[in-house]
Amino acid sequence: MAQTADYSLGPHTFPRGWFMIARADELAAKPLPLRYFARDFVLYRGESGRPYLVDAYCPHAGAHLAKNSTSYIVRDGEQVEGEAIRCPFHGWRFGPDGQCDDIPYGPCVIPKAARIKTWPVEECGGIIWMWFDEEGGEPDMALPPFAEWDMGDQGWVRWQLDDFGQLATHPTEIVDNMADIGHMSPIHGSRNLIYFDNEFAGTKVSQSFWAGHRTLVDNDPDAVLSSEAFYTGPAILQARLGGQHPSVMVIAHTPVEDGVIRMHHGLMVKISDKQPTAEELAMARAYQEASRDALAQDVEIWMNKRPAISIMQVSCDGPFGKVRVWYQQFYNPRAKAGVYQARVDGREIRIGESRPAGALEIAEMV
Ligand code: FES
Ligand SMILES: [Fe+2]
Repeated sequence: MAQTADYSLGPHTFPRGWFMIARADELAAKPLPLRYFARDFVLYRGESGRPYLVDAYCPHAGAHLAKNSTSYIVRDGEQVEGEAIRCPFHGWRFGPDGQCDDIPYGPCVIPKAARIKTWPVEECGGIIWMWFDEEGGEPDMALPPFAEWDMGDQGWVRWQLDDFGQLATHPTEIVDNMADIGHMSPIHGSRNLIYFDNEFAGTKVSQSFWAGHRTLVDNDPDAVLSSEAFYTGPAILQARLGGQHPSVMVIAHTPVEDGVIRMHHGLMVKISDKQPTAEELAMARAYQEASRDALAQDVEIWMNKRPAISIMQVSCDGPFGKVRVWYQQFYNPRAKAGVYQARVDGREIRIGESRPAGALEIAEMV
């Protein structure tokens, strides 16, 4: 298992950005223990429904805030009060800012240091996202749009997220995929390649790819699958696909330990122009399964390959080197990110002359 230092990505062990940490539907009333970025967290919903993410261990005597089922605080359903969370051990309560505001067996002075670290969290697209930054800064980029999530009346069927579990693969090997034109035919069954480019634009990188495809378009050999994929930061891939049905894919990967990630996939499908019937719903589900199977083809490679600390680049490969330079910005102090962006910003076309009619610019995708 290769780690960040092996790839010489920068001084940070983990990248800076937004990351998927849970499906929205797995966070119910009970606080959820999570492990990412080699740290333990607790995710809980306040009574308003808003999610909060805090470090897992209580500053008093170190209890884990979510790994408990027998404390009477937990049994009696008293752990979340308003937007605050109580420790199951001695009952200290921490407000949504992380500060302890109640020691129930007092009175006593509550120390200022009685606080737990809180992390920025957002919920959209049926996913709970956290902002991670080793420098402790606030988010400097927005999440990608999830407009289709709320367009059921126009025939969009929401994704049901597929959990690929943990992979002992460094995330740089996942992001390499953006430049990987050479695997499209052998792994995904692409044929009649029409167009392929990558565009680097600050914290975003896009891949525009037009080709025939064995599974996601009709059996018509002339049918074309257009794929406009882009990363928003280091770990959220969205793709807008124009195949048999218009669809929006998400692939989200999050570091668990250095060199280990957890990955989820989803596909929203526009199956008609109005609220779908049960039969159309089943078609949308089957279409997501075909997309999941396509990603599983990559995953099988990732799970069994040796680390590619450097790639033996040939001229007909996509720009792997540029993708890795782009990716380095997230492992370096924010003040230096612009240096890496300036080295790669711009468009690189590998197949075709110019973007086909109807292709999206990166500004339209985000
Ligand atoms: S360990 Fe949390 S209140 Fe004592
Ligand atoms: Fe792939």
